[in-house]
Amino acid sequence: MGIARHIKKLEGYVPGEQPKSRNVVKLNTNENPYPPSPRCAKVLSSFNLDDLRRYPDPNFSALAKAIADENGTTPDRVFVGNGSDEILSLAARVFVENNESIGSLDPSYSLYKTLAAIRDVKWIGTPIHSNPRTLKPSNPSRISLFLWTNPNAPTGEFAEPKAISSFAKKFKGVVIVDEAYADFARGNCMSLATAPRNRNVIVMRTFSKSYSLAGLRVGYCVGPKDLIDALYKAKDSYNVDAVAQAVALAAFKDGAYHRKTVAKVVKTRKAFEKALAKRGWDVIKSESNFVFAKPPAGAAAKDVFSYLKSREIYVRYFPGPLTGDRLRITIGTDGQMKTLLDALDDRFRGEEKTRKTNKTKTRKQPPRK
Ligand SMILES: Cc1ncc(COP(=O)(O)O)c(C=O)c1O
Repeated sequence: MGIARHIKKLEGYVPGEQPKSRNVVKLNTNENPYPPSPRCAKVLSSFNLDDLRRYPDPNFSALAKAIADENGTTPDRVFVGNGSDEILSLAARVFVENNESIGSLDPSYSLYKTLAAIRDVKWIGTPIHSNPRTLKPSNPSRISLFLWTNPNAPTGEFAEPKAISSFAKKFKGVVIVDEAYADFARGNCMSLATAPRNRNVIVMRTFSKSYSLAGLRVGYCVGPKDLIDALYKAKDSYNVDAVAQAVALAAFKDGAYHRKTVAKVVKTRKAFEKALAKRGWDVIKSESNFVFAKPPAGAAAKDVFSYLKSREIYVRYFPGPLTGDRLRITIGTDGQMKTLLDALDDRFRGEEKTRKTNKTKTRKQPPRK
């Protein structure tokens, strides 16, 4: 009686810290450092309060149509969620039987594991360094939903759409390509989702990253009509509120602003990757709005994380054997990245000095007889 046994055991997903102070350098949750399109402000300031008396459009028709038009498909192949997290949560409910499993790359977005636990099904990780093309889709563990983050998080790596396509062709279950960060990458899988013969690929995007609207909570996905219909069946009647629908639509239609913001982030990312590498960090080539990097030899990622926090600079540290030696750093403005690099220089200059002093001391010792 009471709380279900598997929920009692559950640790729950731990989101990145949201510090109260506005004066910190916040590079820990892959938010966009730039404001959303100015058209969003216009929609908000002219929003008719009377419209809030009524329930919102349950089919988010205008937004779904805009998304469909942009991607050369029809609105009945589009679903919109209260953040893409809601879509993931629905997918875990509608595409997975009780005796089946959810699969993903490992490491990947840690929410997937939690969603499987909430659903009381197994989560099966495919280590990132084995080639995902060698995955056996009909394996005995009965994976029925594979969540392929591309570019991956927290590593930032990009998998070629061809690899995902050939995996999906062999896979019996549903593949959701989680493209939360695809706008910052050199390619994406949308054409797999919109292809008329596609039977099992859903491509999912969010307004939280490249559109600077994490606070609004809007995500969407595109896929075969029967899978989209299944998501509709399981959703709350009015899962995306009226303000969110209107603001997301305004942002989506401002393509020029979106492209400009994305280009700024990518430019800063490239410069930051170089700056870190120059300082001896091991940086995984990112196609995202963050980098996953290992501090120079001798420095523990966890210690650097704590040091940065003491300087009011928030980055993300994921403990564990596959992730615990690196930090995930969101790309902010050029100014924010400079503040971070300056702080790192302070930290490592101190260490460098100690190393040099120790070396000198060692050299000064008389040779042993
Ligand atoms: C890979 C990935 N997918 C989905 C999400 C969730 O995005 P949303 O804000 O749309 O719920 C995140 C958020 O960080 C993410 O990293």
